[in-house]
Amino acid sequence: MFARILPALALGLGLMAAPAPAAFAQIGGPVTGTPTNPAPPGFTAEDLELQKALQGGRIGGRISIPDEQAASLVQPMGRDWREFHNVTLAWIGGVAVLGMLAVIVLFYATKGRIRIDSGKSGRTIQRFNGIERAAHWMTASSFVVLALTGLNLTFGRHLVLPLIGSEAFATITLWGKFAHNYLSFAFALGIVVLFLAWVKDNIPNRTDVSWMKAGGGLLAAGHPAAGRFNAGQKMVFWITVIGGTAVAVSGYLLMFPFFFTDIAGQQLAHVVHGVIAVLMIAAMLGHIYIGSLGMEGAFDAMGSGQVDVNWAKEHHSLWVEEEMAKARATVHGPAGAKAAGAD
Ligand code: HEM
Ligand code: HEM
Repeated sequence: MFARILPALALGLGLMAAPAPAAFAQIGGPVTGTPTNPAPPGFTAEDLELQKALQGGRIGGRISIPDEQAASLVQPMGRDWREFHNVTLAWIGGVAVLGMLAVIVLFYATKGRIRIDSGKSGRTIQRFNGIERAAHWMTASSFVVLALTGLNLTFGRHLVLPLIGSEAFATITLWGKFAHNYLSFAFALGIVVLFLAWVKDNIPNRTDVSWMKAGGGLLAAGHPAAGRFNAGQKMVFWITVIGGTAVAVSGYLLMFPFFFTDIAGQQLAHVVHGVIAVLMIAAMLGHIYIGSLGMEGAFDAMGSGQVDVNWAKEHHSLWVEEEMAKARATVHGPAGAKAAGAD
């Protein structure tokens, strides 16, 4: 019995006392491009290559088939990418989304719903036509499904799987993935239409500076002047257009892997996609709140397309003046509009 245990014990103690091969000592340590420890005597070329890979290098070879990806045997940057997906993205997403929800709850608790100060007039003015509203709702509804199915990929394993079990989770994740792929086209089309429809009214100008200085009406008494879109809405517009384009481009790189990029490009596309997506979700939560519960009269703009005149005068005074001038020009001609505008 002892005869068998003693040699094993001696071997174990010997291994503990011996300097650990650099390769194993470095596992889980900082990833660098070159080996930092000298190779112990007796290391073969293969051992050295393994050591290099474990410390951050790449093990590759030569192949004769067209798929060049197959030449990569070990790609240690994948560890950084996995760390990003499992830890960094979850933190950025968690903090951004929960942080925004906390801000909204705090805002509602302290300020309540923003009312029409002068009350409803009963008269309405057309704010968005049918094409604008259809494009908005196509973009918005596809965004919501993309967000939920995307977040399921980031957090589902930790949050949804324990609640519903592996079979149901596998089913919803598979269908969610199909929905994510197919609805991406509606979302991308919506971004293009919204851009074309609204870009001319979303170029920043001097009115935006005074609107921002007044904190959109929160920092100063009264309502700051604004055109068709105020500075806050212009931000929503550019977040939608620029952020939407970035998630679409990175998303299609992921959907058609290795068509345009190598493995490092795929990992970069994934990082860009994940980070911009979760930041956009947080920003859009603020937009959805102010466009529904947060402000009396706002939803009508995207519901029926008709907003109350008093709402429009309070939030978009310069736009109402322009619309009035246009209406007068239609009734009286340009000269009549000028004369009517003078009194
Ligand atoms: C044209 C639009 C889009 C395309 C083509 C696209 C495509 C993709 C693809 C192919 C993946 C990888 C799925 C996988 O790992 O199997 C993905 C992941 C993801 N997408 Fe999208 N997507 C788009 C828009 C969006 C939008 C608008 C959002 C958010 C509102 C979003 C959020 C996410 C998230 C959170 C992930 C998971 C990241 C992770 O944890 O790995 N995507 N998307
Ligand atoms: C799902 C719930 C949503 C609601 C209730 C909602 C509501 C609204 C309303 C009422 C407006 C008109 C505000 C005005 O009179 O100017 C608006 C505008 C707009 N929405 Fe949404 N929206 C939603 C989702 C989204 C999403 C997900 C996006 C983009 C991904 C989006 C992008 C825009 C843009 C770019 C505008 C024009 C700029 C602005 O007015 O802020 N919306 N939305």
